[in-house]
Amino acid sequence: MSAVVLIGAQWGDEGKGKITDYLAQEADLVVRYQGGNNAGHTVVVEKRTFKLHLIPSGILYPGTQCIIGNGVVIDPGVLVKELEQLRQQGVSSHNLRISDCAHLVMPYHQKLDEMQETQRGAYKIGTTKRGVGPAYADKAARTGIRMADLLNREIFAELLARNLEEKNHLLAQVYGAEGFVFEEVLERYLSYGEKLRSLVTDTSLAINQAIKEGKRVLFEGAQGTLLDLDHGTYPYVTSSYPTAGGACIGAGVGPTKISSVLGVAKAYVTRVGEGPFPTELTGPEGEHLRQRGYEFGTTTGRPRRCGWQDMVILRYAVRVSGLDGLILTKLDVLDEMDTLRICTGYRYRNSMINEFPHSLHVLAQCEPVYEEMPGWRQDISEAREYGELPVKARDYISRIEELAGVPVKLVAVGPGRHQTVIKDPIF
Ligand code: IMP
Repeated sequence: MSAVVLIGAQWGDEGKGKITDYLAQEADLVVRYQGGNNAGHTVVVEKRTFKLHLIPSGILYPGTQCIIGNGVVIDPGVLVKELEQLRQQGVSSHNLRISDCAHLVMPYHQKLDEMQETQRGAYKIGTTKRGVGPAYADKAARTGIRMADLLNREIFAELLARNLEEKNHLLAQVYGAEGFVFEEVLERYLSYGEKLRSLVTDTSLAINQAIKEGKRVLFEGAQGTLLDLDHGTYPYVTSSYPTAGGACIGAGVGPTKISSVLGVAKAYVTRVGEGPFPTELTGPEGEHLRQRGYEFGTTTGRPRRCGWQDMVILRYAVRVSGLDGLILTKLDVLDEMDTLRICTGYRYRNSMINEFPHSLHVLAQCEPVYEEMPGWRQDISEAREYGELPVKARDYISRIEELAGVPVKLVAVGPGRHQTVIKDPIF
C-alpha cells in the first residue's frame, strides 16, 4: 500500500507544486483535497511554465489520473479556463475527475470576500479574494451548491434562486453593493456544468479502489499548516484543512489507508497576507530572499514576506500532521548567504517557548532565538546526488533533521523538474 499525503509545513507556497509534479511521475493517482483557486502552483518543465490553481500538477503526465476531491471548492469558470489553457499548451485533461460532492464558488462568494475584506479595515485577513472563505462558510451553513447540483438544471436553478434572494439582500443592505441577476448566473454556470459534466463522478470510490489495488496515490495539499482553519494562526488562516487530517475528509478515505505523510518546507520561511511572523526579515536580507527566490504570489502577484527557517513551526507541523519526513525546497536560494540562521525557540517576555503558541497576541511578542551556521557560498543548482551538495549545505540539512525529529527525504535545488536531489526515495 502506498498512499502518501503531501502537505505544506509552513504558511503555504512551500513549492508543493514542483514536488507533486516530481512525485507524480511515479504516482498512479494525484488527488487535491482542499482549498480552491486561492492556491497556485507553478511547474516548470523544459523551460515551459504551467500555472495551475485547481488542477493537480499530475495532469502534466498523461498516465497519471488526477482527482479534484470533495473537500475542494471549485469556481467552475476558473476550472474551465484552466482546462482550456492546458489544452492550448498541448496538455490533455482526459485523466481528470471531479468529485460530485465538491462545493461551488459562486460569484456572490467572490463579491462577499472582497466586501468583507474592505469592511475589516485594519483587521483584514489579506485573503486572495477568490471567494473561498464565503464558499466554505455556505458549505458549513448548509446552503452551498455542489458540483452534482450544477448538472441538473431544475435543482441548480432552485438553489441559485434561494441563495440569490439571501445574498443579493446581504450585498445591498449590509455592503451597499449591487447584487447578481438570476438568469445571467444561471446560464453561465449551466454552460460550465456542460463543459465539466463528463468529468464529474464519485471520486472517493475511485481513490479507495486504487488504494485497494495497491496503486500509488499522492494526496496533494494546498496552502500550509499555519493556514489551517483549526491549527493555523487563526484568524489569519484559510477556511479549509491543509493539515494531513484534511486529506481523509477531503478525499473520502479513512486514516488507516494512509501510509505516509510528508511535509514540504522551504529552506527559509515565507508568508503572504497579514499576521505575526517571528523570523520575518524586513531589511535587505529579506529583500535578497524575495528576489532570489522570486517570492511573489502565483495567484495574486503579491510580494511574499520572507524570513529565516523556523523550527518551532516545523516541529508543530510534524506534530499536528504526524509527518514522517520533510522535503526541503529552494535550498539554492540560500547559496549567496554568508551566515544562515535557524530559529530553535522563541523568547516570550522572560521565558523560553518551544511549542508554537496558539495565541496570536503571544506569537506577536515572541522573539526568535537563533542558531547560526556558515553559508556554503556556492551554486548548488546543478547538484543531482546528495553527495554533490557542499558539506555546509548537508550540515544545514542535518541540523534541520535533528531539530525537527524527522528525516529530510528530498531537497529541491531549483525550479526545474530535474533539480531535485533524492536523499531517501518516497515511493
Ligand atoms: P483565502 O484562502 O483567500 O481566504 O485567504 C486566507 C489567507 O490564506 C490569506 O492570508 C492568504 O494570503 C492565505 N492563502 C490562501 N491561499 C494561499 C496559498 O496558496 N499560498 C499562501 N497563502 C495563501
